[in-house]
Amino acid sequence: MKTNLVIIVSTLTMCLATRDIFSELFINYINLKQTSWIAGLNFPQDTPVEVLQRRNGARLDEDFYNNLEVKVHNITDEIPEQFDSRTKWPQCESLASIRDQGHCGSCWAFGAAAAMTDRLCIATNGTTKFQFSPEDLLSCCTDCGNGCDGGYSSRAWSYWVDNGVVSGGDYNSNSGCQPYSKAPYEKSATPQCTTTCLNTHYPTSYSEDKHYGSTNYKIEQDVQQIQAEIMTSGPVQASYAVFDDFYNYKSGVYQHTIGEQSGHHAVKIVGWGVENGIPYWLVANSWGVKWGHLGGFFKILRGENHCGIEQNILGGEPKV
Ligand SMILES: *[C@@H]1O[C@H](CO)[C@@H](O)[C@H](O)[C@H]1NC(C)=O
Ligand SMILES: *[C@@H]1O[C@H](CO)[C@@H](O)[C@H](O)[C@H]1NC(C)=O
Repeated sequence: MKTNLVIIVSTLTMCLATRDIFSELFINYINLKQTSWIAGLNFPQDTPVEVLQRRNGARLDEDFYNNLEVKVHNITDEIPEQFDSRTKWPQCESLASIRDQGHCGSCWAFGAAAAMTDRLCIATNGTTKFQFSPEDLLSCCTDCGNGCDGGYSSRAWSYWVDNGVVSGGDYNSNSGCQPYSKAPYEKSATPQCTTTCLNTHYPTSYSEDKHYGSTNYKIEQDVQQIQAEIMTSGPVQASYAVFDDFYNYKSGVYQHTIGEQSGHHAVKIVGWGVENGIPYWLVANSWGVKWGHLGGFFKILRGENHCGIEQNILGGEPKV
């Protein structure tokens, strides 16, 4: 076993020179080295890592973070060991849905739009099921950064408060005012901003379709504060450092094991729990339902700001 590992490690160093992160060797190494999560292939073996890297389009804007209001919860009730938004609010199906950003660095828009959608549904107890459009944020929020080349999540939330966001479903869904225009496996450029509905069958005009937030804020880097926010208002947006091993996540509680940092990614935290004694966050990714074995969700170590997952937490209240 030990000798095998040495051979694997030395061969791996060679492999990593070409960043062959979908090789059997790389995947076997992850599965040998740790026991909290299982690695396997999620992408065709010949996928260039650069293509996946492009999806990690979360940019950090220090100035903005420093100026953003902090929401502080008064923690009086005991926080449960396990919490899953999907079972807490079954009347909001969006909590269980996973979207696909395609080969575009629009994770910042997807994470924000998904959390806004859930939050509006939760605030109205399931009576307003309005799917916010990542496309609208991606193409029309000029302050948000560079579209498919990456953007600032915090600005997506302030854009929601100041300018509103229209509805929009998945690629080819014909759902909402501005459905996503990027096919899952198409290398894509940032779409042009259009202030009309792309879906010509949608009965409402672009300006009438805008739904707004009333506030946007950040949550301190504190597990209980994050938990209190999720329990009271719904999922939060988070961002974290993606390392090469993460692409091969299948199930279990992810902890960085091997590989270089590949980029910075934005996602949505929907709950938490403990698995085999290891505390985790339950997170919705935007790489489609076929990524991993949890239908596009994943678990990541909780309580140590692992990969920065607890340090960029964003939320806001919808205007109802
Ligand atoms: C928090 O709760 C305590 C006890 O109920 C109360 O005295 C205090 O004013 C609260 N603080 C805030 C900021 O709401
Ligand atoms: C929320 O909706 C559920 C059904 O979807 C209903 O049973 C419940 O009474 C509602 N709660 C409130 C506070 O209106």
